[in-house]
Amino acid sequence: MKLVILGGGGFRVPLVYRALLADRSPGRVTEVVLHDLDAARLSAIGGVLAELATDISDAPTVTASTDLDEALRGADFVFSAIRVGGLDGRAADESVAAGCGVLGQETVGAGGVAYGLRTVPVALDIARRISVHAPDAWVINFTNPAGMVTEAMAAHLGSRVIGICDSPVGLGKRVVRAVGADLADAWLDYAGLNHLGWLRGVHVHGRDVLPDLLADTERLESFEEGKLFGSEWLRALGAIPNEYLHYYYFTREAVESGVSRGAFLLEQQKRFYSAPSWKSWEQTRLEREQTYMAETREDERDSDDLDGGGYERVALDLMHAIASDNRATLILNVPNKTTLACLDADAIIEVPSLVDANGARPVSVSQVPDEGVGLVTALKVVERATIKAAISGERAHAVKALALHPLVDSVSIARKIVDAHPLLSGVFRATC
Ligand code: G6P
Ligand code: MN
Repeated sequence: MKLVILGGGGFRVPLVYRALLADRSPGRVTEVVLHDLDAARLSAIGGVLAELATDISDAPTVTASTDLDEALRGADFVFSAIRVGGLDGRAADESVAAGCGVLGQETVGAGGVAYGLRTVPVALDIARRISVHAPDAWVINFTNPAGMVTEAMAAHLGSRVIGICDSPVGLGKRVVRAVGADLADAWLDYAGLNHLGWLRGVHVHGRDVLPDLLADTERLESFEEGKLFGSEWLRALGAIPNEYLHYYYFTREAVESGVSRGAFLLEQQKRFYSAPSWKSWEQTRLEREQTYMAETREDERDSDDLDGGGYERVALDLMHAIASDNRATLILNVPNKTTLACLDADAIIEVPSLVDANGARPVSVSQVPDEGVGLVTALKVVERATIKAAISGERAHAVKALALHPLVDSVSIARKIVDAHPLLSGVFRATC
């Protein structure tokens, strides 16, 4: 089983490889090819993987390449986790938006649209090349903004591209722990788009335990989302939103905090890439997790909450289910079909999906809560406007995509963002 990792020099690749090393199943990955445009980053990560595999006789082989077509040939799975423009690009998306007085975040608001505008053309090129060089491969897309990028790639790859994110299962794990149940016993009734979903029920042994949790302030506020949103708001919603909804429900506070996570990570990761080793990787990883999202709040992240979903776990579970035809239910980004009534059939949505050798298909869930329908439909319009702008390269379309976003409050701010962004202004030039 050959797995190609695009963005193979990325900081999180050792997490994936560590999960592969622990995998003893018959259909496990035996060959890993790392692809990246940056040879130095490839060699830094290659070194860490070699350290991880020391003394493990049946460790998957690892090779590295900067040639995409060569890397793709013969792939069974392609895992795409690229960051177009690197962390510099993320820092620019975040700081340009913040400098214009709107939210500066990696995937939400103007930052997410800017990231999408930069990423979609690259993702489309990758999708085209996969359909030529590895037409039978399953493509697991973690590249952000994951919903938008999956939707763009699906135009070439159809249902062979499946988007993943660790935040829904991370939320599920925390909620299940708070009610004292096991994740394996729980049916998570979750619906929405990537980074824009709500957990509407947690069914354990035939009973929905979410109402009890919502009624219990102490238990509710014992985990990340309870602390972020507060029990009163969660009870009013009757659901637990994905942590990224914080940026919509507490926009003012998030904007005022003005933090660029990208700038922080840029500095932090420089330390690892300038002296790469397993030890410095592990140290950097721990530091990174402890600071995750905590910048927008006063307190530090609770250590119990650090164990998110583990996106490497989601990726591995997905590969298993497909490769071994071992049916599993995972929360994934897949075409809607008739699942969510507020969206059309082709819209990529994030919902529990049944996965086996035939791929992933959404299962029936509760609909998006009424008060979320407006947001979800507006954001799908923004995603599609961003894809259209990225393909056309036209400034007016880029401005439109930004201005349509509910967290961008003026067309002139949208224009200002395009003009002030070092990676957008040259591409989306004004035409008379
Ligand atoms: C979670 C999300 C990803 C996001 C990441 C940001 O894993 O699911 O989509 O990219 O957090 O984490 P970072 O440490 O880079 O801010
Ligand atoms: Mn995500």
